[in-house]
Amino acid sequence: LSFIQPPQVAWASGALADGPLLRKSTRIQDLTDVFADENARQQLAGEQVVYDVEMLDTSPAEGELYTGVTHLYPGRVGCEYFMTRGHFHARREQGEVYFGLRGTGLLLLQTEQGNARLEKVFAGSVHIIPGFTAHRLINTGEEVLSALAVWPGIAGHDYAALARGFRIRVFEENNRVQAKEVQNG
Ligand code: F6R
Ligand code: ZN
Repeated sequence: LSFIQPPQVAWASGALADGPLLRKSTRIQDLTDVFADENARQQLAGEQVVYDVEMLDTSPAEGELYTGVTHLYPGRVGCEYFMTRGHFHARREQGEVYFGLRGTGLLLLQTEQGNARLEKVFAGSVHIIPGFTAHRLINTGEEVLSALAVWPGIAGHDYAALARGFRIRVFEENNRVQAKEVQNG
């Protein structure tokens, strides 16, 4: 019998290898109305990549799990740190687990009732995202923030439910990370 070579994640960088991979880049030009300062976003180069997602091209069938890595680059739109768009799962009851691999940032979680909280993300952090909870990564550091995620193939994404934004935004002010509650969301 031979031994199967599994896919690999390089823990230090989050790079996935040796499996069938899907890749998606999200750029400044894709993130209309995501940041508080839409004018500041329009001043930035539209092609600049804010985050890359690499995932294993595995089955989306019920009971199967997806595995992916998000690489969120350092940067800001105005004073607001680069972040992912953020979403609920289309199948609201489906949860997810995130593992911090490198860099420093925050995971913003928000329930359907609008209660929001922030967890610190760092190499080795483990984040249990329960069902019915929207999630967004925020890079508050100066390096790439990479996080590994595992989620149900049937979960899907619902971006529209948070089109008005989350209840918390995170800014750099006076060289410090400042989280603010906002009215929308
Ligand atoms: C999958 C998941 C992550 C995100 C990724 C990009 O359920 O939570 O793989 O999809 O971090 O963020 P979004 O999808 O919000 O653009
Ligand atoms: Zn998700």
